[in-house]
Amino acid sequence: MTQEKMEIDSEPMTTKLNAMSTLMASAKAKGKEKSNGMTKLEEERDGLPWVEKYRPNTLDEVVSHQDITNTIEKFIEAGRLPHLLLYGPPGTGKTSTVLALARRLYGPPYRKHILELNASDDRGIDVVRDQIKSFAMTKVLFSKGFKLVILDEADMMTQAAQSALRRVIETHTKNVRFCILCNYVNKITPAIQSRCTRFRFSPLPEKEVQRKVDDVVEKEGVNLTDDGRAALLKLSKGDMRRALNVLQACHAAYDKIDEMAVYTCTGNPHPRDIERVVQSMMADEFGTSYSLITSLKLEKGLALQDLISGAYDFLQTIEMPPSARVYLLDHLGSCE
Ligand SMILES: Nc1ncnc2c1ncn2[C@@H]1O[C@H](COP(=O)(O)OP(=O)(O)O)[C@@H](O)[C@H]1O
Ligand SMILES: [Mg+2]
Repeated sequence: MTQEKMEIDSEPMTTKLNAMSTLMASAKAKGKEKSNGMTKLEEERDGLPWVEKYRPNTLDEVVSHQDITNTIEKFIEAGRLPHLLLYGPPGTGKTSTVLALARRLYGPPYRKHILELNASDDRGIDVVRDQIKSFAMTKVLFSKGFKLVILDEADMMTQAAQSALRRVIETHTKNVRFCILCNYVNKITPAIQSRCTRFRFSPLPEKEVQRKVDDVVEKEGVNLTDDGRAALLKLSKGDMRRALNVLQACHAAYDKIDEMAVYTCTGNPHPRDIERVVQSMMADEFGTSYSLITSLKLEKGLALQDLISGAYDFLQTIEMPPSARVYLLDHLGSCE
């Protein structure tokens, strides 16, 4: 926009007017495409995947981890933020918490004060030494205090890089705080673990995922049926990112999202299919159930792996003597 304006300013008056009217016309045309009274910012956010669009902005908005966010808030108030190590399964709010923390510390221009490195960035020893070091040593103009280095998916870092990191943490604690995020805490060397305050992010309770899903459903005008919602929550297993991504994919593909749509869209076997397979395996001849499974795999594009884990879930719901259960689980295990 500024560039367009500058170009216009250097031209004679008539072309200026022409250009102005063209601009206005195109703005009007755009307005027609999106005529639901959205501001520019909202329009920009509208193109984003829902996981980004509905990412919590403040620590308060991070649900289900109140104890963690409260503790972090206390650290900030006391001006004593330690190095943080946040771990837990995907889609539980680790990245969101750290970004909210950065926003809380530095306000909207927080990007200037943080260095964010994730698994897609090269994070060998050299990067840790050079990039983090030079970031740690430069100061942001007119600001005091520390900066934040965010190492997302840190369990992908090599042992050598982690050892280098340990030195960097030690030498730069004065002006930098580290936030280390990972799925598996045991992949982080004990030396780093002991220098950080650890927080575990557990899978989100279904209730919390449901609240967020309902919120998004209302804001985006999604047509989600009750059994569709139940299937969505069951499949997401406490992973909010998964829930929102599946919801968006289904919304793009179907007008009405019911149970069937959710299972088809994600390629997961429908519980009814699983039940049919298990019943057949227990009652029919080997040949009959073998061809049933093969045809199901072909017709519905199901993966054997999903059928096996589905069978496991299903077996949990039926009564049988312990010895029979052990036998079945043992064999399911070897199949897998
Ligand atoms: N505790 C939470 N509270 C609110 N939203 C969440 C929470 N956890 C996950 N989300 C949603 O899921 C998306 C992915 O979360 P993210 O913080 O990137 O997960 P992680 O880093 O733990 O894998 C976010 O954009 C947000 O919309
Ligand atoms: Mg993350």
